Amino acid sequence: MKYLCYVWLCCLMFACRSTTHTDWKTIDYGPFKLKAPQEWKKITFKGIDSYVGGLSNGKDTLSFDYGIYGVDMDLDSSGTYQEDTINGLQAVIAMSGEERNKHVAVDIYLKDQEHHFFMSGFRLDDVPTVLQIFKSIYFPYSDTTINPPIVMTKFQRGPLATGKWLFQMNCAACHQLGKKMMGPAMAEIGRYRDKDWIYQFLTNRDAIQPDSLTIAYQKEAGSITCVRFPGLTKMEVNRILGYAK
Ligand code: HEC
Repeated sequence: MKYLCYVWLCCLMFACRSTTHTDWKTIDYGPFKLKAPQEWKKITFKGIDSYVGGLSNGKDTLSFDYGIYGVDMDLDSSGTYQEDTINGLQAVIAMSGEERNKHVAVDIYLKDQEHHFFMSGFRLDDVPTVLQIFKSIYFPYSDTTINPPIVMTKFQRGPLATGKWLFQMNCAACHQLGKKMMGPAMAEIGRYRDKDWIYQFLTNRDAIQPDSLTIAYQKEAGSITCVRFPGLTKMEVNRILGYAK
């Protein structure tokens, strides 16, 4: 009995250690921070339009892209994904590949309208640790009290609709990235509108007071108007704009 108690106590201590991460350190990247086990080291690269960098423990490496241009989640057809909340912010976590050779990625919907955030790793060995690192990412406006644990069974069979796919299926008939077609060029829209405004425009257009720019676009387009997409989610709009900005 004494022995069993001891084993139980050890298990309890181990479980506590691995879930509360008291021995994890905080890595500060400037616009955001995250937590990782001690052996993980920060790495930085030179980006052109964005702040890119990552972290590695010598075996697994994660890299992020924080910039005005989003990176599309490009996963193969074996992928699964789930919508999640990471420290109060909406996110999508996607996974593909075989056990011990996985590609895992996270896309977080930022309150800062100018930026997109994306982090991923290829050929990963220790996926549970990587998922915990994803869950620890926080921005100055994050709310660390809202961070439900990841439930593995919540991963849905994918593949995740990427920004490119969503754009081509829903928007490309009328919009191009860099030039005006029936609708204005996406690059131009991205200069005047933030993603929350675009989400409102697409999903609940009547709630928006048309301004002089919208009125000008409507005049130019004549009888054609933008399609209403009440079913698009915020994360889907985020991915479309990540691809099409
Ligand atoms: C049938 C053609 C058509 C499709 C499909 C379409 N649009 Fe549009 N879009 C337009 C036209 C025309 C305008 C300008 C007139 C207007 O406001 O309706 C416009 C305007 C917009 C604007 C607002 C510009 C502004 O600042 O007032 C946004 C944002 C936009 N489209 C995004 C999208 C996205 C994203 C998709 C796909 C999910 C999409 N549109 C699909 C034709 C289309």
